[in-house]
Amino acid sequence: MKPISLTGIKPTGKPHIGNYLGMYRPALDLMKTYQGIYFVADYHALTIMHDPETLRELVYEVAAGWLALGLDPDEAIFFRQSDVPEIPELTWVLSCFTSKGLLNRAHAYKAAVDENLSLGRDPDEGVNAGLFNYPVLMAADILLYGSDVVPVGLDQKQHIEITRDIAEAFNRTYGPVLKVPEGIIQENVMKVPGIDGQKMSKSYNNTIPIFAPEKEVRKQVMRIVTDSKRPEDPKDPHDSTLFTLLSFFASPERLEEIRQLYVHGGAAYGDLKKELANLILAHFADARQSFADLMNNRGYIDDVLAQGAQKARRMGQPYLAAVRKATGID
Ligand code: ADP
Ligand code: TRP
Repeated sequence: MKPISLTGIKPTGKPHIGNYLGMYRPALDLMKTYQGIYFVADYHALTIMHDPETLRELVYEVAAGWLALGLDPDEAIFFRQSDVPEIPELTWVLSCFTSKGLLNRAHAYKAAVDENLSLGRDPDEGVNAGLFNYPVLMAADILLYGSDVVPVGLDQKQHIEITRDIAEAFNRTYGPVLKVPEGIIQENVMKVPGIDGQKMSKSYNNTIPIFAPEKEVRKQVMRIVTDSKRPEDPKDPHDSTLFTLLSFFASPERLEEIRQLYVHGGAAYGDLKKELANLILAHFADARQSFADLMNNRGYIDDVLAQGAQKARRMGQPYLAAVRKATGID
């Protein structure tokens, strides 16, 4: 049996190139040496998404995105989180080994509290307990199968550390029952910038979506924020969102040429944006076609997810049984 690589993505918006570079691509690359377990984290999405139609639609989009980007459902275990009831069961058990203070310090919850305080409101205003417990659910996702590695972007690093803390707390009480996982965070794509220069994120409305109509992809790329320098002015490539994004898609030779144009003058932002849009569309041409086909064949997606859930449950059940036995809830 190969070691296990596991990751999930929330269906809270359309897959974007930050997700691709920070998570989808590294996760799919790991399939060569690891057994991949990949899933659509719809229970996590429920902490913020309360419109059923949108949630259903986004589950299809995210699932189609995985498949279109190359996930082979015969090789990977690929499913929808809510189809595996062992996950919420393990979440409860783990919550009894999670110190509340640890969750108080989790970034998403802390950010909500800090914002409330800065506005003079009650610290917990608008915060549901699902958001607070989010890291415990994520720990259950990971620990249910004895995962070895978890490929994620930098923003998820703290969640992996919390998962490790929870597993260690459980093991201190009962002996080595849970495997303590490692995060895999890609140094060079730790934070892919969005079109406004902040981290690319669905929550900031600054993404370049992978599967949107061509016109929309081009429009987003043309909106990348640049300064007011003229083409002939020398520019610092390290201080340019456009250059950073080009560096992920241009060939090394072309990137070096563009770097010279930045440093010595000659880089016209408009032309470079058009070049970037073409590179992105070419890079994802096959995936975009396959995404469109999949979205027209939702019965197939349903079947793939249902079969994946069966595999995931079979794989998770022995671990859950060990947890139940260790705790005396058996
Ligand atoms: P978003 O911030 O758009 O809501 P998610 O939180 O759903 O994205 O992230 C899904 C996966 O993609 C996570 O592993 C996350 O670390 C990774 N990811 C998201 N945005 C970026 C980014 N800008 N750069 C690198 N990785 C990212
Ligand atoms: N919290 C992750 C995110 O925001 C999604 C996720 C849920 C996940 N469960 C996971 C990632 C387990 C890795 C492992 O993107």
